[in-house]
Amino acid sequence: MNVLPLTHPGKRRPRLTLLALGGTIAGKANQSTVYAGYQAAVADISEVLSSVPELSGVADIQTRQLFQVASQDMASQHLLALGKEINVLLSRPDCDGVVITQGTNTLEETSFFLNLVVRSHKPVVVTGAMRPSTSLSADGPMNLYRASVVAASPQARGRGVMVVMNDQILGARDVHKTDTMTVDSFKAPLFGVMGLVADNVCHFYRSGIRCHTLDSEFDISETQELPKVDIVYGYQDDDRALLDACVESGSKGVVLAGAGTAAISARLVPAVKDAIASGVAVVRVSRSSLGLVGHNVEFDDDVYGTSSGDTLNPAKARILLMLALTRFSSRASIQACFDRY
Ligand code: SIN
Repeated sequence: MNVLPLTHPGKRRPRLTLLALGGTIAGKANQSTVYAGYQAAVADISEVLSSVPELSGVADIQTRQLFQVASQDMASQHLLALGKEINVLLSRPDCDGVVITQGTNTLEETSFFLNLVVRSHKPVVVTGAMRPSTSLSADGPMNLYRASVVAASPQARGRGVMVVMNDQILGARDVHKTDTMTVDSFKAPLFGVMGLVADNVCHFYRSGIRCHTLDSEFDISETQELPKVDIVYGYQDDDRALLDACVESGSKGVVLAGAGTAAISARLVPAVKDAIASGVAVVRVSRSSLGLVGHNVEFDDDVYGTSSGDTLNPAKARILLMLALTRFSSRASIQACFDRY
């Protein structure tokens, strides 16, 4: 078992910063039992916090309302601002960890991005809620509590960015939102949970071995903008129009979410060749929710110049490709990123 130095070796209370971005955890509905009339991102962080007075028993908590958005409205500018803010906070000796509350719709993308750009071993934990704060049995308060327990724990250091939902600790690389409604929506079906939170204690069982945080080569401290990367979905009857439109509108990279092991239809192959000839990086991932897309499997990546996206889903592959393109342009280097992260 890897034993990491303690941030706050029992001498003082942990100090956490809570960054609020919006989402359903800050959402309200007109009724407690239905979602009709529900709006995400309306309660501010002090209101969210007031529903969890027990947090004062976990840590000293500073709060900051960084954004107030539904997470589908987040964009790479939000990610860059968030990543930079976290790196500043974690460089300070008076911050032992960061908890982020955001909408669940794109929580996978934010957490994976942070996993690749945070420059610290201090815990960073992302959480949210499947039910608005006004719901009967709202899940947000307990998720926030559990996330703070994990962020305050010295055992959580060095494990990369984590997502805490429904009493489970999930690695940012592997977590999927698997269900549109249920409170156990967040899972890591391929590789399993990293740990559990029970009775105010976190129990860790495994860590991912793909590079993250301090082992990552992505430095966003000077980055003003991320390269435009789009996703094109493969389906029966697909044609080249959408891929061509990406190239024409200035995409620097395209994630192709192909069927099965990221198979690409014969209809799309000429457009893939043209995209690559014009300098656009093309990465194949699967539109199936789980499984490996191996190199040269189902498609001859080495002949066409595409990269294979390993086990990443399309949204996460897009995050990695944006970051990869901030540093690299060659296909070999981009493929190496998908093999490493
Ligand atoms: C959002 O992602 O902002 C809304 C949905 C949610 O938080 O579950």
